[in-house]
Amino acid sequence: MRAAVLRGPRDLVVEQRPEPLPGRNEVLVEVRSVGVCGSDTHYYEHGRIGRFVVEAPLVLGHEASGVITAVGSGVSGDRVGQRVSIEPGVPDLTCVQCLAGRYNLCPGMRFFATPPIDGALAESVVVHAAFAHPVPDSMSDEAAALLEPLSVGIAANRKGRVTGGSRVLVTGAGPIGLMAVQTALAFGATEVVVSDVNPQRLALAERMGATLVLDARTDRLAELEVAPDVLLECSGIVRATLDGLAALDRAGRGVLVGMGSDELPLPVPLVQERELEITGTFRYAGTWPTAIALVASGRVDLDGLVTGTYGLEQSADALTVSRRDPEAVKVIVRPQD
Ligand SMILES: NC(=O)c1ccc[n+]([C@@H]2O[C@H](COP(=O)([O-])OP(=O)(O)OC[C@H]3O[C@@H](n4cnc5c(N)ncnc54)[C@H](O)[C@@H]3O)[C@@H](O)[C@H]2O)c1
Ligand SMILES: [Zn+2]
Repeated sequence: MRAAVLRGPRDLVVEQRPEPLPGRNEVLVEVRSVGVCGSDTHYYEHGRIGRFVVEAPLVLGHEASGVITAVGSGVSGDRVGQRVSIEPGVPDLTCVQCLAGRYNLCPGMRFFATPPIDGALAESVVVHAAFAHPVPDSMSDEAAALLEPLSVGIAANRKGRVTGGSRVLVTGAGPIGLMAVQTALAFGATEVVVSDVNPQRLALAERMGATLVLDARTDRLAELEVAPDVLLECSGIVRATLDGLAALDRAGRGVLVGMGSDELPLPVPLVQERELEITGTFRYAGTWPTAIALVASGRVDLDGLVTGTYGLEQSADALTVSRRDPEAVKVIVRPQD
């Protein structure tokens, strides 16, 4: 099979590799669509993300869908031919965190496209059978792949306890922010304010149902007429995070989704006097059933986020398009093309 292999910063080659064999409780998936994530782009450009360093050739891509073509022992042969969305992190399923239902926090997590685990920019991948989630035929391959970033949005909304009537502020309207916006609306939020510095992305947020969009370069979050009770911080920018927290109502909740700023000053009086809750959120656990239902029912639109489709040989182009084109939102690689 062909796989797009990252050998070092900006050094990506498509090479032949033996097709993997599904082991016990695993399935082999012929990959149809892979969404490109900012982390893939970061690995491509820098060969590392923090303490994760690409020391051996690595296959990128962790937002994937496809069709099951073979099963390992312990998996019903009936699953061959099933269209699936891949949940790309398989935990050990035995540790304290896993048993508490927080398997995203499993220290033994094996996550696609995080050194040394290969990802999905390949014609086929193996994954644990329980992490290959069947999707309805009405769902496109692209949407099935994008259930992964949607899961980040769902996990963030759950952490923020977004519910009917919630007033939500989303800072950052990248793919993750836009997923968070759509999920908040689907969960019943009645006000969803979105800030960004990219007018095209703000326009998209408005089309997806945001009730108010703000250009962070000129508009001030502090001047919102109604204070939000939940902040979903999806930019990773220090200023956006601090302004977002300062905009929160009393007893508000700030969910830090965006990564990138390693430290930020904590406004202690604000946190105390308003009894703010601030929490991180890391990936997701148990989100695929919700993600599938939201997309299948039309409550969340993922196809509308796709701005380009590439073949496997053009993976390097796909990985860098967000740097060249401010209108790019979500780019898909189709490994069979
Ligand atoms: N916590 C998790 O599990 C998790 C999972 C996936 C991604 N992430 C993180 O979520 C963040 C968003 O991911 P993405 O793919 O949408 O990235 P992205 O870079 O496409 O989106 C970030 C957006 O923030 C906007 N922005 C920049 N400055 C701003 C400001 N001052 N105010 C408001 N917006 C501003 C940018 O224009 C951009 O649209 C990233 O930091 C990513 O690392 C976290
Ligand atoms: Zn575990």
